[in-house]
Amino acid sequence: MIIEGSTAMVVGGGGGFGGATARRLAKAGAKIAILDLDEEKGAASAAEIGDGAIFVKTDVTDEDSIANAIAHAQELGPLRIAVVAHGGGGGDGRVVHRDGRPHSFEAFRRVIDVFLNATFNVTRLAAAAIAETEPLDGGERGVIINTASIAAFDGSVGQAAYAAAKAGIVGMTLPAARDLGPLGIRVMTIAPGVFLTGAYGKVSPEDLQAQWGPSVPFPSRMGDPDEYALLAQQICENPYLNGEVVRLDGGLRFTKRGT
Ligand SMILES: NC(=O)c1ccc[n+]([C@@H]2O[C@H](COP(=O)([O-])OP(=O)(O)OC[C@H]3O[C@@H](n4cnc5c(N)ncnc54)[C@H](O)[C@@H]3O)[C@@H](O)[C@H]2O)c1
Repeated sequence: MIIEGSTAMVVGGGGGFGGATARRLAKAGAKIAILDLDEEKGAASAAEIGDGAIFVKTDVTDEDSIANAIAHAQELGPLRIAVVAHGGGGGDGRVVHRDGRPHSFEAFRRVIDVFLNATFNVTRLAAAAIAETEPLDGGERGVIINTASIAAFDGSVGQAAYAAAKAGIVGMTLPAARDLGPLGIRVMTIAPGVFLTGAYGKVSPEDLQAQWGPSVPFPSRMGDPDEYALLAQQICENPYLNGEVVRLDGGLRFTKRGT
């Protein structure tokens, strides 16, 4: 698909993966709508891109908020690309804690809501908007790129909620691609390993590299968010990639304890 002249909406565009992807797609000629809950990060990301990029404050757990953001994105030109890469926090640890207390059900629901339900909500609303565009050569209208995690396949101790949410995103990829094929819309999912983004809070990059780098077979370091962005761009450009989940992890497999 030709990125140039298309509009791309990037959910979580103020964050590590979303920001890097927005910058790459902008360089490739797309008009960019940054959707993020964090006004400071989202606005900064749009300002860095310039060239008419907009920021729309969006809470991805709120349907009206998503619909409003999509309407703004459509004003930039034909919406053909939706990248879903927002954060949202983790669960409550082990299914049963060491003190015998069960995992909070409320926390489980929250994780499913922010990752799985929100991703489906963006997928269906963005797809309906992309379906309104004129098909390009080959009949393609656009592409939706969702973000899972390798925890969907090899979740560690304490990751039941997060892994379940991400596995749901993996599971919807093929049926969504099958549903949307007749509309000329592809659906792909990226399942990242460990990447140096803001997702790890205040821990220093050096400490994070020391913790995670050695467990990655090659290259033995954490991923650079631009490597996620590169794959997102390649997914946009290659019309035959569809209905698939791509692990992007340097060969890393989580063990029981993560590293
Ligand atoms: N960084 C990693 O190692 C890694 C690995 C596997 C999967 N992932 C996944 O990648 C995605 C993006 O993570 P990241 O590493 O770029 O994190 P990040 O913290 O750098 O960025 C996440 C962005 O999402 C925004 N956000 C949070 N809640 C939101 C909401 N309700 N509505 C809209 N925006 C919201 C935040 O403001 C932030 O800008 C997440 O789904 C995460 O689970 C990350």
